[in-house]
Amino acid sequence: MRLKVSEQSMGSRDLGKLQHHIVLCLGSSCMKNGAGSVAEGMRREISSQQAKSNIQLSKTSCMGRCSDACTLAVYPQGDWFKEMNEKLGKKLIRRLSTGQAIGKRLTKHRSYSMHGPNAQTDR
Ligand code: FES
Repeated sequence: MRLKVSEQSMGSRDLGKLQHHIVLCLGSSCMKNGAGSVAEGMRREISSQQAKSNIQLSKTSCMGRCSDACTLAVYPQGDWFKEMNEKLGKKLIRRLSTGQAIGKRLTKHRSYSMHGPNAQTDR
């Protein structure tokens, strides 16, 4: 069932302003590889960029890519990132909050796309 933007099903969040949903793995492999500091850094960057209304950061359990830890995915782009660290997490937030493309510098060695015409894989 698709939620209507006007529904208040996510607390008081205005879904009409939401542009990006980041899903960050906090499973055991990702936690061993710094997911906690990635999460905290991204939260701080969202706050400092005043991007709370348009970027949602959600934490989840294992995303099934433990060998790539620390892993996250960005929607609606559908880009998955591996080997994230605090610095890259902050950089990702800055790019998303300023409307910049995620870009090759960030994604070159660290991401793969699950779908789309330019889908690429490093495997
Ligand atoms: S623990 Fe993060 S992908 Fe498995």
